[in-house]
Amino acid sequence: MRIDNPKILAALPELGVELRPGQAMSELTSLGIGGTTDLLRIKKHEGIPDLLNLLEQHGVPHKFLGGGSNLLVGDGELPWVVMTLVKPDPDVVLSGNFAQIDAAADLGRTVTYCAKNDLGGMEGLIGVPGTIGGALRMNAGAYGMQIGSYVREVKLYRAAERKIEILRHDQISFEYRHTSFAPDDMMLAVKLELPSKPFKEILQGIRICNEKRRSSQPLGQKSAGCIFKNPPGKSAGRMIDELGLKGLNVGDARISDRHANFFVNAGSASAKDMLTLIGDVRERVNKAFDVELEHEVVVWNG
Ligand code: EPU
Repeated sequence: MRIDNPKILAALPELGVELRPGQAMSELTSLGIGGTTDLLRIKKHEGIPDLLNLLEQHGVPHKFLGGGSNLLVGDGELPWVVMTLVKPDPDVVLSGNFAQIDAAADLGRTVTYCAKNDLGGMEGLIGVPGTIGGALRMNAGAYGMQIGSYVREVKLYRAAERKIEILRHDQISFEYRHTSFAPDDMMLAVKLELPSKPFKEILQGIRICNEKRRSSQPLGQKSAGCIFKNPPGKSAGRMIDELGLKGLNVGDARISDRHANFFVNAGSASAKDMLTLIGDVRERVNKAFDVELEHEVVVWNG
């Protein structure tokens, strides 16, 4: 979708927003899939309520992008514009055991930066691509930990209130790959409280998680991590593997040979290819195990 309304175009600079017309979403997603649309790069949080009012007044549908690492975007010219935060400098400020982190900060770099300052707890998330904001919204987790456990405060744009607010941790619920934030709330910043640990000890934990991940996940390939959530007490990857589906493909959308819950773009897969493969696997798992798999990946299609 193209923004051609002169009122919106004229207001963007004052609101601290840079317009990138015709951005290919395939360049902003780890799957390397997605059509084109206008991208609004937000440089100051304070401009967000006015920006959203403006887009809504003029009937411009919009979506909010984090790191694009858990996202499957549709093909062709997209029927909405995309907003994203520009990372400030610095993006992480430490004070004692607290880390104040901008939502646009890179998750892995933040984990490493905190580790170097003897703050641990987040070792499991090393190697998970994406931003802090995305990790927060999804309550990203791995190897027995989840980011929600360390959250003390979240600064967000509350769509329902149409304003920026700060929520305390006891006002938010964090569950497996799910949070109580509304779908159109925008994560802006978070304050984490992390346990003190010597860097060397954290590094050991990081090495172990890296090793586990390298041996079981297709890290060098274009993917969005796990496609399906694990149903309670079950493993989606194991069920798909047991059906012998590793390597199954629709065009260049392919089930990884290394981990059956990772679907990779082995070349120039389209969203349609990937969605067909996802639908096919859901059906087969449902038939064989009587289990309805739920998407873990976020789908923006239409
Ligand atoms: N398994 C198979 N075949 C496969 C894949 C897995 O038999 O192709 C078996 C494994 O041998 C193991 C079990 O299934 O016994 C679970 O596999 P794994 O330890 O790889 O973990 P997972 O449940 O598939 C979850 C998260 C990952 C996270 C890892 C490590 C979900 C959907 N996935 O995977 O998160 O990295 O644990 O903690 O919760 C993601 O969210 O995108 C993601 C990759």
